Amino acid sequence: MKTPWYHRTSIYQIYPRSFYDSNGDGIGDLQGIIQKLDYIHELGFETIWISPFFSSPQADMGYDISSYTDIAPEYGTLDDALQLIQEVHKRGMKVVFDMVMNHTSIEHPWFKESRSSRDNPKADWYIWRDKPNNWQSITGGSGWHYSKERGQYFWSSFLPFQPDLNYRNPEVKKTMFETVCFWLDKGVDGFRLDIFNVIYKDAKFRNNPFSFKLIPTEDDPSGFFQEAKYNLNQPESFEFAKELRSVCDEFGERILLGEVSGDKSIIRTFLGDEVNNGLGLVFDFEMLSFQFNADYFRKLIERIETHFPNPFMPVYVFSNHDRHRSIHRLEGDLRKAKLLAMLQLTVRGVPCMYFGEEIGMTDLPQPFNTALDPVPHKFKFIPRFIFDLLGLLVNRDEVRAPMQWDGTRNAGFSSAEKTWLPVHGKYKEINVEIESKEDGSLLNTIRKLMKIRNEKTSLREGSLEILNGLPSGILGYQRKLKNENVTVLLNFSGQEKEFQFEFSESIFKLSDKDGAKEKAVRLKGFGGVIVK
Ligand code: NOJ
Repeated sequence: MKTPWYHRTSIYQIYPRSFYDSNGDGIGDLQGIIQKLDYIHELGFETIWISPFFSSPQADMGYDISSYTDIAPEYGTLDDALQLIQEVHKRGMKVVFDMVMNHTSIEHPWFKESRSSRDNPKADWYIWRDKPNNWQSITGGSGWHYSKERGQYFWSSFLPFQPDLNYRNPEVKKTMFETVCFWLDKGVDGFRLDIFNVIYKDAKFRNNPFSFKLIPTEDDPSGFFQEAKYNLNQPESFEFAKELRSVCDEFGERILLGEVSGDKSIIRTFLGDEVNNGLGLVFDFEMLSFQFNADYFRKLIERIETHFPNPFMPVYVFSNHDRHRSIHRLEGDLRKAKLLAMLQLTVRGVPCMYFGEEIGMTDLPQPFNTALDPVPHKFKFIPRFIFDLLGLLVNRDEVRAPMQWDGTRNAGFSSAEKTWLPVHGKYKEINVEIESKEDGSLLNTIRKLMKIRNEKTSLREGSLEILNGLPSGILGYQRKLKNENVTVLLNFSGQEKEFQFEFSESIFKLSDKDGAKEKAVRLKGFGGVIVK
């Protein structure tokens, strides 16, 4: 079977508010993305995923949609969106929109109607109950909210102003499938699917069982002292993935990339029974809390290869608009960031890189009580150091600061007096312009690695075999496709390592000091090579 394009692709995530402001209002926009498409193209990424830019009160920065087919004015117009699709395709690239199917904004006309009485035509479009059960929302606390108009409670999986749609109502399903088709028809290459694993909830609204777990983790969303048994990962959601897939298949090969959570066997279920009859790809967020050592990555890859063997394809993602930037987890060490990128771009999987990661943008710590992000307001009475100790990002503004293009005012992001979030103070040292000029910069390292990835089919589609018998701290794997094969050797330790290894050609070295000496490979601390 031929590998679908979305299993061979590479994804660059754009947070539209922060990417590039073309009209000087301090907010990034669609024309801004169009102006920077060549940058992404030259970087070597094929697919761009853009976080939501649809009509929205922006209470959750666009993840609270009030019309799925209109564009929020600060981002542009429908014509701009169509032009963006066209411009992306002109460059041989693909564009993925963010589809928030699970919930709308409380301001969506559907919800306003649904809330107005118990017997209006949309009365059953959302999840209404006379009495709440014990379910907790993803952000903690009951997800049931009282509405005076109806004298009932509605369910919100995330925040109170994001009511969940009721997919057990056939009209809702039909309307949302029509929405998906609206965009596919306009040429969109697919969707990233927001919190897709909560689409269905238990039909009987059974109470969740007690659990000792306080904090939800990536492999187990249970937390806040309950097992998340009945409000997510329901069998109907797995079936829905297949239905959505068949709707999209009418338009050809389109990407469906699910934001899901649970252990690997659960998230794998969203891909269907056989490959390609469910979602095409799912995120595995375990790796967002990676530990930087060879042993961790070896085990991670082994687990992933067990659960997502060919013809499934994993996604490798180390940061996004909700989590710490990876350089934050790497104590600001650029050598480590280069090694991590080397792993991400050579391992068997689709790499998904958040904007700014390619230049090593860092988190921008900010107080909870002035945050634009609604989440920290829920937690502002808890001392921040507790979250820091646990490695949890609460104020997501900190990873959404504007892109650092150059050393001019506002990092070249905007000509406005004030940008929607402050620009990071380090923009004069960390920016695209400076790093473009420096051969060994993180940016140029990524450019070179992307070039190799795009040239070598074995890196995009080949099998992966982990090498045994390497010195401690070294992770090595071989990628193979028919008669093409390459070997990647990565030194996760800070010490120089030299070991016997036969190869015929060196394809890439992370630094000048890495390399070959007769039949041996020498890797300096955090060095890496690709050989064949
Ligand atoms: C996940 C998104 O990534 C996040 O930014 C958003 O706040 C929630 N889903 C709710 O839509």
